[in-house]
Amino acid sequence: MHYRQLGSTDLKVSRICFGCWQLSPAWWGEVPVEPWAAAVKAARDCGVNFIDTADAYGDGLAETELGKLFKREGGREDFVLATKFYWNFSSGPARYPDTTRDYIIRACEASLRRLQTDHIDLYQIHAWDPITRPDEVAAAFQQLRREGKVRWFGVSNLNPEQMELYRAHWDVSSLQPPYSLLARDIEQRELPYCLRHNIGVLNYSSLHRGLLGGKYTTDTTFADHRAKAPLFQGAGLKIILAAVEEAKAIAAEQGLTMAQLAVRWVLTNPAITSAIVGVKKPEHITGIVKAADGTLPQELWHRLAARFRQAQTEALAAGR
Ligand SMILES: NC(=O)c1ccc[n+]([C@@H]2O[C@H](COP(=O)([O-])OP(=O)(O)OC[C@H]3O[C@@H](n4cnc5c(N)ncnc54)[C@H](OP(=O)(O)O)[C@@H]3O)[C@@H](O)[C@H]2O)c1
Repeated sequence: MHYRQLGSTDLKVSRICFGCWQLSPAWWGEVPVEPWAAAVKAARDCGVNFIDTADAYGDGLAETELGKLFKREGGREDFVLATKFYWNFSSGPARYPDTTRDYIIRACEASLRRLQTDHIDLYQIHAWDPITRPDEVAAAFQQLRREGKVRWFGVSNLNPEQMELYRAHWDVSSLQPPYSLLARDIEQRELPYCLRHNIGVLNYSSLHRGLLGGKYTTDTTFADHRAKAPLFQGAGLKIILAAVEEAKAIAAEQGLTMAQLAVRWVLTNPAITSAIVGVKKPEHITGIVKAADGTLPQELWHRLAARFRQAQTEALAAGR
């Protein structure tokens, strides 16, 4: 496994990060916990030292299961532990964004309790909150750092202007945006901004929620949130899978699986510190770590980018 410094922090993280969103029944259905817990241990055995979760994943379920695992088997200190706050779900299903000072302190203490740990290594704001002042967020962060509850702070799903507003009040150590062969918007503004300001990037949906994993066929149907996503059905799915079939042949020439090729494509971008992969079972993580062993040749990176851009344009047009 290869490791990189996360922005200007002292955190040295593996280039693959273990993503915990899959423990969200409302999005992914019931994912059995035993294989998932075995996957966390398999990740550690492969050298993956970075875990990304959020309080909102399963309304606390992902953090709770991680905490139970750490309590039962130890190993908390083997990982750089990143979690998020933003959705106030304390008053029932009508959740709403909340980054007020009092809420941040309460959310952090609840995450620490669920995770059964005394500190969070990277605490991220899940998305932009338009109605709380950045200096109020900063006041909460100063308190949490002073109390030793959080080491570093990051953001997710923010644009450069939003990061700039926060950076006037506190150190933004990382950004968590979507990035894959089928989601490249951040190449224009967010990634150059992060390079310029030495902000670490842990990107999500590296496999485009599995679509780039090489496992699906035109007969695959999705029983989870993907059932309604445009690229996951009908003519759109067929077009994307044709590009995936071509890429599989390229992957084989490189000695990689399709999933490894897709993640290596992400990691070839120098702005990306670590690629998050969403995991349900040990094979998901053991099957991906090889992606981190190198980068793709420049010509091949661009060839894949162009092929998937064409496929995506055609797939979206077909779905209209
Ligand atoms: N900050 C945010 O707003 C945000 C949003 C989304 C995600 N995230 C984070 O990023 C993580 C990953 O993102 P994601 O879940 O959207 O997408 P992803 O990593 O692109 O896709 C995950 C899916 O890919 C498939 N897969 C996993 N490993 C594989 C392998 N080795 N070979 C083939 N297929 C494989 C599985 O599909 P099947 O389920 O079909 O087996 C899995 O559910 C999440 O867990 C979460 O931590 C953050």
